[in-house]
Amino acid sequence: MTPNFVPRADTNIPLYIVASDGLENTLEQLDLVARAWVVASGFTAKLAETCVIPKPDGTIQTVLAGWGDEKSRGHGRFHMASIAAKLPAGDYRIEAGLNQSERHEAGLAWLLGSYRFDRYTKKPAAKARLVEPFGVGNARVLIEAEGSFLTRDLINTPTNDMGPEQLEAAFFDLAKKFKAKVSSIVGDDLLRENLPMVHAVGRASDQKPRLLDMIWGDETHPKITLVGKGVCFDTGGLNIKPGASMGLMKKDMGGAANVMGLAHMIMALGLKIRLRVLVPAVENSISAGAFRPQDVLTSRKGLTVEINNTDAEGRLVLADALAMADEESPDFLVCMATLTGAARVALGPDVPPFFTDDNALAHKIAAASKATADPLWRLPFWDAYEGMIEPDMADLDNAPAGGMAGAITAALFLRRFVENAVQFVHLDMYGWTPIAKPGRPKGGEAQSIRAMLQVIEGLID
Ligand code: BES
Ligand code: MN
Ligand code: ZN
Repeated sequence: MTPNFVPRADTNIPLYIVASDGLENTLEQLDLVARAWVVASGFTAKLAETCVIPKPDGTIQTVLAGWGDEKSRGHGRFHMASIAAKLPAGDYRIEAGLNQSERHEAGLAWLLGSYRFDRYTKKPAAKARLVEPFGVGNARVLIEAEGSFLTRDLINTPTNDMGPEQLEAAFFDLAKKFKAKVSSIVGDDLLRENLPMVHAVGRASDQKPRLLDMIWGDETHPKITLVGKGVCFDTGGLNIKPGASMGLMKKDMGGAANVMGLAHMIMALGLKIRLRVLVPAVENSISAGAFRPQDVLTSRKGLTVEINNTDAEGRLVLADALAMADEESPDFLVCMATLTGAARVALGPDVPPFFTDDNALAHKIAAASKATADPLWRLPFWDAYEGMIEPDMADLDNAPAGGMAGAITAALFLRRFVENAVQFVHLDMYGWTPIAKPGRPKGGEAQSIRAMLQVIEGLID
């Protein structure tokens, strides 16, 4: 869906955002009757408390919404989404009570909270709509919401409507919208074009595996390449997942969905970069032709990989895509993937870990994460664990026994395929909100892309 908002309009309801210590001041701005109404209602400006002030004819004159104090706002962000959800139907403009950057975040929270995935069943749209302008970067808030909605839609769509073919169609649509060059290498062509591990993982599915490639922007600008894991469904392969673990695996293309959401933002903003997006789009399925435990695969880069678990498939398809990306020595290479259960065990669903060897970049990412309310936390490429991914039979082991430090060993595996990129970061995300939070409805979620957008903007100026 696209974000639901109201273009600049004359008829709208003024919304005052009132912090606990700003109540007196707000009351002074109201007429006597309105003031008496607020006092009689017992409104104290607690966080997300609302007070609807009527006109004499019974329609709404003004709404006050509590912003509480710093303590009650706590670590949470996007409180505006909770307020929006409580407001009576109508079109609102934020009249007072927030500074410019708070308005930006509030506008974004409002839009993100209005998301509905209604492809298969009708859902009532959000009743309270936000009227432009939302803050300093009006267009930017919209673009951020659009990119996030694209990501959520792609993840939420079940595999019967979002297999490798449909993911390719969505990828091509995105490219067309921004006049990017796009191509895909499909089925046995993957072998001819030397993407053997993308082929091996995806060949058991009825829908052919493929490598999607989009290029946009001026060749002379900094080269930034995004690689996203596009496993449209992860059964685990012959090492089949138990039912409970398979339940959410339509979201295993969450990395692809996130790089596409980020690409949307970058292209819509017209950033001065040369963008490339690579997505290995496959289904990790089961058939007589499936790849097996103990197979040894030769990767694009030439490194051999012993398969010790067909369920560690993400790193295989990403390894070939990363190697391909790395061949043109990009200035910045970003990998996004729902790669390991271990990342979620370590940090939970809402905080994706990121891995980079570049301390300056890590600091920029941490700062951008905070500024954009887009949680991320650094984990190390722990060099001393390199031995864990080296079996006897081949150069690399895709699933070290025991599974200790699973998110780190997966990250180390990927790093082996990146040599030339000037800067590299890998993000291991959950891509899903299991329990709804303000601005984050249950379901597919955009993670890290607002933070990474800010980081990328920082690299070019
Ligand atoms: N897609 C899964 C990882 C995953 C599972 C992400 C659950 C989010 C939630 C990945 O392909 C996988 O199955 N990884 C295995 C690797 C193991 C076999 C080495 C895992 O994490 O258990
Ligand atoms: Mn898997
Ligand atoms: Zn997977």
